[in-house]
Amino acid sequence: MSVNHLILYTLLTFSLSFPATSAINYNVINLSPNTPGGIRFTKEIGIPFTKKIMRTINDFIWSTLFQQNTPADRKPLDCVNVYIVEFDGAEGVQWGSYNINVSSIFLNGYEGDLKWKFTSLFYHEMTHCFQWDGEGRAPLNLVEGVADYAKLKAGYAQQGYAARGQGDRWDQGYDFTARFLEYCDGIVPGFVAKLNKKMRHNFDVIYFKELTGKNVDRLWKEYKAKYGK
Ligand SMILES: *[C@@H]1O[C@H](CO)[C@@H](O)[C@H](O)[C@H]1NC(C)=O
Ligand SMILES: [Zn+2]
Repeated sequence: MSVNHLILYTLLTFSLSFPATSAINYNVINLSPNTPGGIRFTKEIGIPFTKKIMRTINDFIWSTLFQQNTPADRKPLDCVNVYIVEFDGAEGVQWGSYNINVSSIFLNGYEGDLKWKFTSLFYHEMTHCFQWDGEGRAPLNLVEGVADYAKLKAGYAQQGYAARGQGDRWDQGYDFTARFLEYCDGIVPGFVAKLNKKMRHNFDVIYFKELTGKNVDRLWKEYKAKYGK
């Protein structure tokens, strides 16, 4: 083995043991291909586009949203599965750690740029796959708030998304909680990433104080005062 070969060998071994990007498989299955929404999925979105945005969003979640630079920091997943399926009452639902169901009824009924809306939905649902929730102890509305914060941070907040300062409680959920998390991130850069890291095995509302020096009720009051509502 020459020196050059040794170097090449070392580089190869290194890149194999530390994959630069995701080693996660994205599986997309249209289970209702003959329904109006399933047909619209094939025509306007398609499986290749879905897999492409999943990779982009996955990288965004690791590098920007949660700032998890080593595999040991990340949720260990091998795959994320997407099913286009007929169900009513929600745009999409994430389940069993690594599955996302998207409603073909929602896809059929949506008026506007469907690819954009689909991408926005995926920022939310994929965040559920990769976020920590204190092993189930974090408030559900905080978990939803973090998922909606991903949309905001990525520039995919939909029309009608809460404005800064809106809401009655920090744990109201979704876009209301996301706006509050945005405020906390303004006080402590990387707040959401740090909070997520703390939520790996447990949850305690004291985490807000540990990260910002102020308890969550005080933060909420100052947030509301800042935006005059
Ligand atoms: C998602 O769709 C699959 C396939 O139809 C189904 O087996 C599963 O129960 C659905 N999950 C939820 C949470 O609705
Ligand atoms: Zn959700």
